Amino acid sequence: MDSLTLTRPDDWHLHLRDGVHLAAALPHTARQFARAIIMPNLKPPVTSTADAGAYRERILAARPAGSDFTPLMTLYLTDDTRPEEIRRAVDSGFVHGVKLYPAGATTNSASGVTDIRHCDEVLATMAELGLPLQIHGEVTDADIDIFDREAVFIEQVLAPLMQRHPTLRVVLEHITTREAADFVRQGPARLAATITPQHLLFDRNRLLVGGIRPHLYCLPILKREVHRQALLDAATSGDPKFFLGTDSAPHSQSAKHSDCGCAGCFSAPAALELYAWAFEQRDALDRLEGFASHYGADFYGLLRNAERITLQRQDWALPATYPYADEVIVPLLAGETLPWRLALSE
Ligand code: DOR
Ligand code: ZN
Repeated sequence: MDSLTLTRPDDWHLHLRDGVHLAAALPHTARQFARAIIMPNLKPPVTSTADAGAYRERILAARPAGSDFTPLMTLYLTDDTRPEEIRRAVDSGFVHGVKLYPAGATTNSASGVTDIRHCDEVLATMAELGLPLQIHGEVTDADIDIFDREAVFIEQVLAPLMQRHPTLRVVLEHITTREAADFVRQGPARLAATITPQHLLFDRNRLLVGGIRPHLYCLPILKREVHRQALLDAATSGDPKFFLGTDSAPHSQSAKHSDCGCAGCFSAPAALELYAWAFEQRDALDRLEGFASHYGADFYGLLRNAERITLQRQDWALPATYPYADEVIVPLLAGETLPWRLALSE
């Protein structure tokens, strides 16, 4: 197979940042995807519908000429989020979820939730109104090993949460373990998961053997090979509970090359090509369209895109860097050759 035509895909988990960084990051995503779920972990975080509306306007204004990219906004859940805010969010029509960051779990999560039980009233309102909860699924306890934090979260936080809120729609974001894939597969239809390209392509050896690779450092961190295989199984299974969410998370080269480097892989420039490469490893390119272009829209209750895009088998090397405001940014797999390339829109 030398060419693959798909319904235009959407990215169901994306960081676009703000200001000059938004302007630098957005064109990469807008070139590939029709829509994206926009993460709210700005400084300060997007905690209200008014903030989300203003951020949405800034994203629309930053689109390249001719782009019809649609940002799907989210709110950042805090201990103080009120049910009235959830009603405003649903009424807005442009807020498509609320993001749970356990406080301290990752980049800009300091204002996140200290104990999810503080949010039960808000979660009940979300369940009533059908607004999905998007979860960064890691515990933050200092005594839990970083490689175990997702599995412990599922057992200690997510399973009880699903029981306390039996109609709440939940997306477990960027899953990284066999435990997460199993939990989602065995769960009810109201539970789904996104999977990043880096977690399908790499295990933790790639991050740490032969030298530390800061551009493969993200959270949740890459895991053992057995987990990567479980994620590939899930993504290529045709099960609509698993869909594309890049978690493309831009940080400048200097922020990554640091004594305390930031977490995040900048996958936006070649996102779809990276997924195609992963699916090809399983001889499952025929399953890519469902994962990339159908199941996410179906879960969020949105129409699938009408437009189509084409991937062509063509070796190309990712640039070493891209401009990033007055700095540069290193893409995932900088300088390496990929076998698929996005071509023409039909
Ligand atoms: O690696 C990550 N980067 N994981 C996250 O959860 C946040 C993200 C970011 O915003 O940089
Ligand atoms: Zn993220």
